[in-house]
Amino acid sequence: MGLLDGKVTVITGAGNGIGRASALLFAREGAHVLVNDLGGARDGSGAAPSAADAVVAEIRAGGGSAEASHDSVSSKEGADAIIGKAISAFGRVDVLLNNAGILRDKTLLKMSREEWQAVLDVHLTGSFFCTQAAAQKMKEQGSGSIINTSSVSGMLGNFGQANYAAAKAGIYGLTRTASIELQRYGVRVNAVAPIAKTRMTEDLPMFETIEDSLSPEHVAPAHLFLASSLSHDVTGVVLAVAGARVSVFKVVESPGKYKESEGGVWTAQEIADHFESISKV
Ligand code: NAI
Repeated sequence: MGLLDGKVTVITGAGNGIGRASALLFAREGAHVLVNDLGGARDGSGAAPSAADAVVAEIRAGGGSAEASHDSVSSKEGADAIIGKAISAFGRVDVLLNNAGILRDKTLLKMSREEWQAVLDVHLTGSFFCTQAAAQKMKEQGSGSIINTSSVSGMLGNFGQANYAAAKAGIYGLTRTASIELQRYGVRVNAVAPIAKTRMTEDLPMFETIEDSLSPEHVAPAHLFLASSLSHDVTGVVLAVAGARVSVFKVVESPGKYKESEGGVWTAQEIADHFESISKV
């Protein structure tokens, strides 16, 4: 018995890295996997069917069930085609893992409009389009699990990644709102903030000395947990995985302070004077 026996799962950007590791695990757990990948370079340029096709071949060679999709998540037509292919091949959609991503790092003052937009289009708009298309079907079915991909960069910020951090923080907001709106249809929406050595990160100094301790295979079980009924009562959560460490990101608001006098209107000077205690968590 697998944790995803007979479940229809869609994984975007599953031709490499984290998406590939989760596609292989989902297939081993009995899922039908729609392996989507545009097959471009790390910066999103180009396209090739070989990335998705290779993972489909790998799954089938292991006795699993998979179909390939080569559409881009970043247009509505592409997202509709991805979800449509899962439905035509396997009849339904139980799990959507929004994982596709690109990088165009640049400091804020040097970032072009195009570098900003390309990253927003793939990560944030792509997650929106795919979520909308899948959730329509999940609503009819009365069940489903959507897993988005955020990032430490989005949750905390990171030098040189204004576009990427904004997209990943936007995905946090999308996850929270979709989890609230879709709960009534039995659809859960969570996110994973991974750290893993892939082509996206392999040239970062922190990864130079790391071999297998931060592999995509460390992240895949978190996706499996959120995809399966093991997390039947979990929604709106951001699970972080970095090698052997698993944690949860939470937005924290301090208890705050009330001003009783003068109609409760704080002056700017008073906020400055009390800033330390106002911000104390
Ligand atoms: P990767 O570059 O190995 O895989 C990303 C895949 O997405 C590639 O195969 C690429 O062809 C595909 N893709 C790109 N644009 C696409 C589009 N428009 N439509 C369909 N497919 C497209 O990168 P990795 O590391 O596996 O990243 C997976 C996800 O995890 C991304 O969302 C990334 O931002 C996120 N992430 C990764 C971290 C890491 O440490 N590797 C850290 C935080 C987040």
